[in-house]
Amino acid sequence: MLGRYTTTAPPLPVSSPIQDYLERLHRRLCSVNDGQVAAYIPELAKADPRLFGIAIATVDGRVYEVGGTRERFTIQSISKPLVYGVALKDRGLDAVRRTVGVEPTGEAFNSISLEPGTGRPLNPMINAGAIATSSLVAGADRQARLERVLSALSTFAGRPLDVDEAVFESERATGHRNRAIGHMLRNYDILTGDPDEVLDLYFRQCAVRVDCRDLALMAATLANGGVHPVSGEVAVRREFVGPILSVMATCGVYDFTGEWIYRVGLPAKSGVGGGIVAVLPGQLGIGVFSPPLDERGNSVRGVQACEAISRDLGLHFLQPPRAAASTVRASYTLAEVRSKRRRPAEESRLLAAHGAAVRVFELQGDLRFATIEPVLHALADDGGALRIVVLDFKRVSHVDAAATAMLGALITCCAQRDQHVVLTRVRRGDLLGGLDRDVDPRAARAFSFQPQLDLGLEWCERELLSRHGGARGAAPAVDLAQHRLCEGAEPQDLAFLSGLVQRHQFEPGALIVRRGEPAEAIYLLLSGEVSVIVELPGGGQKRLSTLSAGMSFGEMALLDGGLRTASARADGPVECAVLTADAFLRIERERPALAIRMLRQLLQRASATTAQLTAEVAALEG
Ligand code: DON
Repeated sequence: MLGRYTTTAPPLPVSSPIQDYLERLHRRLCSVNDGQVAAYIPELAKADPRLFGIAIATVDGRVYEVGGTRERFTIQSISKPLVYGVALKDRGLDAVRRTVGVEPTGEAFNSISLEPGTGRPLNPMINAGAIATSSLVAGADRQARLERVLSALSTFAGRPLDVDEAVFESERATGHRNRAIGHMLRNYDILTGDPDEVLDLYFRQCAVRVDCRDLALMAATLANGGVHPVSGEVAVRREFVGPILSVMATCGVYDFTGEWIYRVGLPAKSGVGGGIVAVLPGQLGIGVFSPPLDERGNSVRGVQACEAISRDLGLHFLQPPRAAASTVRASYTLAEVRSKRRRPAEESRLLAAHGAAVRVFELQGDLRFATIEPVLHALADDGGALRIVVLDFKRVSHVDAAATAMLGALITCCAQRDQHVVLTRVRRGDLLGGLDRDVDPRAARAFSFQPQLDLGLEWCERELLSRHGGARGAAPAVDLAQHRLCEGAEPQDLAFLSGLVQRHQFEPGALIVRRGEPAEAIYLLLSGEVSVIVELPGGGQKRLSTLSAGMSFGEMALLDGGLRTASARADGPVECAVLTADAFLRIERERPALAIRMLRQLLQRASATTAQLTAEVAALEG
């Protein structure tokens, strides 16, 4: 196989499967020649019916394009959902709902579908509703309102957009039906100002020049909760994305919407300029451009392209999603998994005995009611057995308002059961914006935050130990005889050792050994605490363990020498007895019993650590 490529044949062109798929689809649909270019706006009749582009943009900002994706055309009705977002921001949901409804009409885009009695347009996607919506755009004067619309659409596109004045003028000169609609709306006081001024804004927004890539990015911005996936700019607040996608899903392609949702299954919006946008919330946006329209004013190739993409890539948003990976990535107790703080045998025994009273849930993904429910159920089920619940948020991407409220209620429940909730790897106010608001003030002390899961586990250990008579505070200083490595050593051996070690004091924060340095000595910790840490490639440090008086570190110096695999930092004032590798060789030669005793202690500790790590892996992979 390889031979054939390495010698004669040119290397295979590097392309992506998605790009290949789009190119095949484009080639196939290029031969579709049905439909007519829109002509009721004379300027639009000049469009080249052969133009055809397809673009897909993901919420991570990747864009796949094929065909005429950089050909400019006017956005037309695709501006409607975006300007609806501007109106929602400027007037608020209730005021906009009072002006325009959200009901599909099942009629054409230019139907005069007004609510009997009130004259309220049935939805913001038909021209009547869109004209009413344009009237809600804030601004001191018409220029300010136009700039507001242009700036919003430009933010959605991720680049400055402008108006095709020729198309604007063409529609303004021939838009009699829209003008009639405008005056009807004025008649019902849906429009309160000069309808012609509103119509001018509406005609201008429809004449904004875009390309197919812009459409895909506009759709991806909606899919991404209102944030442009490349520029990172907020085009519309997340709370308005739901309402916008709802009217796109129910009214976006007018009297074809039922068929569209059935066959394509994506909230969408078409325009008589030949564009279509379609949105898969949370994932991607599709933009298609091809001027020939069907009898309903939707791009013929555009509809077929969206239908094929949705079918072939499985995008229909009402297809029941495969059960999301469990929200709980791992769950275990403190009896199974401990903090990185190394503890004296007695404390380890207490934690093994009482650790089941602390349960950790490592959460992942988007937390919504449906995904947080299993956690609430598990906790409701355990009855009062747990004393502390740890919820870790490292792999949580989003927490919606409902899930935050549920967490607030959980904390209140726990408080009533004298339980405590520790939230780790999440900052107060970050992911859990409204949590403080959702927790009963009487339960305010029933939860706390810890920046790292490891520190959360250590906090729980301290809590449990203090409840079960474990030692409080830092381990007392020891002298050589009390050091674990010397337990049971003969006095003369201790004296010999004492003569070999060098005592060193270290300031708080000092790096006692550095990763990558030659390992030349073992450190017997006599007082204070030392953390063994590694620097992470992306910056920051990870704690591997924290040691206290009576413990040792750097033992590999005695074994293979090599280079240090981690650094050791003094967490406070520290004193160590330092035994060089050479000195240990002397002990081996002159005090073999002491050497064996020390090595046996090291071995015992290594196997205890291995046992603990094995139990943790089992619990984490369980
Ligand atoms: O108001 C009109 O008629 C045009 N400016 C926009 C209509 C449109 O794009 C309908 N969409 N399929």
